[in-house]
Amino acid sequence: LYTNVYADAESASKKVAQDIADLIRSKAEKGENAVLGLATGSSPLKVYAELVRMHKEEGLSFKNVITFNLDEYYPMDPSSEHSYVYFMKKNLFDHVDINMENVNIPSGTIRRKEIEEYCATYEAKIKLHGGVDLQLLGIGRTGHIGFNEPPSNEKTLTRMVTLDPITRKDAAPGFGGLENVPTEAVTMGVGSILNAKKVIMMAWGESKAAIVNEMMNGEVSGQVPATYLQLHNNVAVFLDEGAAKELK
Ligand code: F6R
Repeated sequence: LYTNVYADAESASKKVAQDIADLIRSKAEKGENAVLGLATGSSPLKVYAELVRMHKEEGLSFKNVITFNLDEYYPMDPSSEHSYVYFMKKNLFDHVDINMENVNIPSGTIRRKEIEEYCATYEAKIKLHGGVDLQLLGIGRTGHIGFNEPPSNEKTLTRMVTLDPITRKDAAPGFGGLENVPTEAVTMGVGSILNAKKVIMMAWGESKAAIVNEMMNGEVSGQVPATYLQLHNNVAVFLDEGAAKELK
């Protein structure tokens, strides 16, 4: 894991956005698509804002971009303001020239008995596009990446999961109370994430400091799914000073 500590989330996010733009442009020059693995939550917000700015002011085009989001709550209507579909449109897709047919977000409305097949199809589609070139990640206080809560091992693929009580508690303010937070989600697996060619992990603020140290220096274990990133040879960890505070 390569660590980059920045003074603040803003400057770190600009560098992450620049890396993404470089990938998109270099792929476009070769007539190829850039396959991005995307995250929601607060961590990537400034990256998306910077990408929107680059689209508007610097002509960065998303015509050759294919995206796969990590996860979605279940059940979740895509038109709900709590959905990750809504989040991605509001923060990125509605403001750039991406072809919405190239956007993939796990469905929160799939029928229960069809979920297994649906998840296998999601995985197959990633493979069909040659795999994820660049996977963006945040980390939850449980050590989850995507919604891979403890225990999740390195072989897990896209599937239905039960959310950890800590994760639901962290999401409660946005839902107007814990009782409104779904108990389940559909998420790409730890194994799906490890298949990406490059991973960028972002964590901001002191509330992430302990789990960031655990991810970097802890024993690799399903009890802290983010520790599996230690097994990947191309992970860049972007931190602000708060999130780097407990690094040993
Ligand atoms: C979001 C996701 C989660 C978040 C994590 C951190 O798609 O998969 O793993 O990245 O919960 O959330 P924030 O960034 O809100 O602290």
